[in-house]
Amino acid sequence: MLKVEQSLEKLAESKKYLAGGVSSSLRSSMLPTPLFVERAKGTEIWDIDGNKYIDYLLAYGPLILGHANSKLTDNINNALKFGSTYGLQHQGEIDLAMRITELLPSADRVSFSGSGTEAVMLALRLAREYTGRQKIIRFQGHFHGWSDSIFTSFPTPDMTESKNSNGLGVSPGTGGQSQKGLEDIIVIDWNNVDCLESTLEQYGNEIAAIITEPVMCNSGCIVPKQGYMEKMRELTSKLGIVLIFDEVITGFRISPGGAQQRFGIIPDLTTIGKSLGGGIAVSGVAGKESIMRLIENGTVNHLGTLNGNNVATAAALTVIDELTRDNSNKLIKMEETTNLIVKGIRNLLDQHHVTGLINHIGPVFHMMFIDEESVTDFSTFQKRDAEKYTQFASLLLEEGVLVRPSGLWYISALHGQKEVENTLEAVDRALKKLVRT
Ligand SMILES: Cc1ncc(COP(=O)(O)O)c(C=O)c1O
Repeated sequence: MLKVEQSLEKLAESKKYLAGGVSSSLRSSMLPTPLFVERAKGTEIWDIDGNKYIDYLLAYGPLILGHANSKLTDNINNALKFGSTYGLQHQGEIDLAMRITELLPSADRVSFSGSGTEAVMLALRLAREYTGRQKIIRFQGHFHGWSDSIFTSFPTPDMTESKNSNGLGVSPGTGGQSQKGLEDIIVIDWNNVDCLESTLEQYGNEIAAIITEPVMCNSGCIVPKQGYMEKMRELTSKLGIVLIFDEVITGFRISPGGAQQRFGIIPDLTTIGKSLGGGIAVSGVAGKESIMRLIENGTVNHLGTLNGNNVATAAALTVIDELTRDNSNKLIKMEETTNLIVKGIRNLLDQHHVTGLINHIGPVFHMMFIDEESVTDFSTFQKRDAEKYTQFASLLLEEGVLVRPSGLWYISALHGQKEVENTLEAVDRALKKLVRT
């Protein structure tokens, strides 16, 4: 059994002052309890009960350079000597925006914000103003942050597909959310050309934007079927719909230029975040000059006290430098490491006669317990045994490996052979325990 007495005590103490005892609702679902951290370095993280884990949670994605990366820490410390934030412009913003326009094929101009949620809010506003239309198409199983304008359903095991009275949208994702804010949201099946075509046939002229994760990382790490994204691009261009790639996970991860570079499909707008800051809050919208011009001419407001601050730009420039140096060698190695872990876990699933499956791309993969040959859509993904995986994630914790209870694993630039070996041994032990239960 994992020792968590100290974490349990801290949670009780925390709840006296911090609502719910945690700073993001998602964290409260962790079993056996939300863990309190003492320190973290490289690929490892220590909790206050003295347990040490190899980290594949990576703070839900941002820590692409690992914990307390010395280059990143040095550059942030250096930047701080010149002031943390100015409320004025500085060279770092220009340098970072320039690097992003060089890397992301869709980026003529960039706007910075602090979180992926804010970036998505801005992208949707730009699309609505640009097209003069209101409706937005989004997809089941995708996640685009928790703003009133888009938060419809949450990618957890109990995610429901509750439709509202007009049968198109879905219910708000949380209590207290504006019902009206979702009236113009249409949620449809992803990776399904027929569904896309029929929806656009019916509503095409009313749609401002289609927003999509280019890989459905939040529900199964599912890659688009051959031709699906091409079709989406073709139809949106034909109908004057703004195509938004939400690359908050895939950006600066599955290739230097994100999914759009990897797949060769250029959206009109892109949202970025997570790995961009390496653990420091920074996000952005990048896109076509003709749309981003709406910010320059003042038609669309882009606000935020800490946008483009000196710490955020120093962090993001470091991450980009590190990921792109030596022909993006780090990203290539991360993918190789991921392939080794994936192959190893697949072998172990076979050895233990456990029906399971892994979808992966770049340095990210989703492991699930399911009796299917493949999982390429949300409804098949929903057939997985989510409870069994949550149990497996707890067993892995006992074996010294920290993963998300949902099944998504992130690999950092520091994960290597040693981590692969130790992880596979831990998976072996955890699967042994799992089949015994
Ligand atoms: C694809 C995607 N978009 C947007 C967001 C929201 O980002 P943030 O949590 O930084 O607001 C997330 C967060 O997980 C995400 O996965």
